[in-house]
Amino acid sequence: MEKLQLTLAIIKPHAVKNPVAVSYIRNVIKNRFVVVRTRRVILDANEAGDFYQEHEGKFFFNRLVTFMASGCIDLHVIAHKNAIDLWRRMLGPTKVYKAQFQEPYSLRGMFGISDTRNVAHGSDSTVSAEREIKFFFPDFSFYEWHNNDELRYR
Ligand code: PPS
Repeated sequence: MEKLQLTLAIIKPHAVKNPVAVSYIRNVIKNRFVVVRTRRVILDANEAGDFYQEHEGKFFFNRLVTFMASGCIDLHVIAHKNAIDLWRRMLGPTKVYKAQFQEPYSLRGMFGISDTRNVAHGSDSTVSAEREIKFFFPDFSFYEWHNNDELRYR
């Protein structure tokens, strides 16, 4: 039995609007991860800014925040023994030109349009995963997750 790690996957607005992308991504998630929680939300610009606060001051901050508040996003708390790395590997490089040339079968290689419209987000560390999951699922109990063998082992 393997201990499962959690990460947050966010499917970005342009991908949620694309039925082929969203159903492909959902299938990939269901096949490779344990899906722990799912929610569809629309953020306002303040919420998107809070979520991306680490990027405040960067040239793309406003563009990113405006885009993330422009439509529905799908949130998936997903688990796997190596969830953070696996999901980020499945996404491919953040920069879409790299994804398309170097990893054309990654999710960003297949469905990415630009560095903003790059299909989906994945937490980059266990600390970020915990902050990001709490941001969207404030009632999620990490204590229960980490202390319930039924939940954290498969
Ligand atoms: S950085 O600067 O290295 O920290 O940025 P990076 O980790 O590559 O990307 C962080 C998020 O910013 C988005 N991003 C951009 N948005 C708009 N324009 C440009 N040029 C741009 N570059 C990066 C990128 O989509 C990342 O969003 P998430 O949701 O974290 O994947």
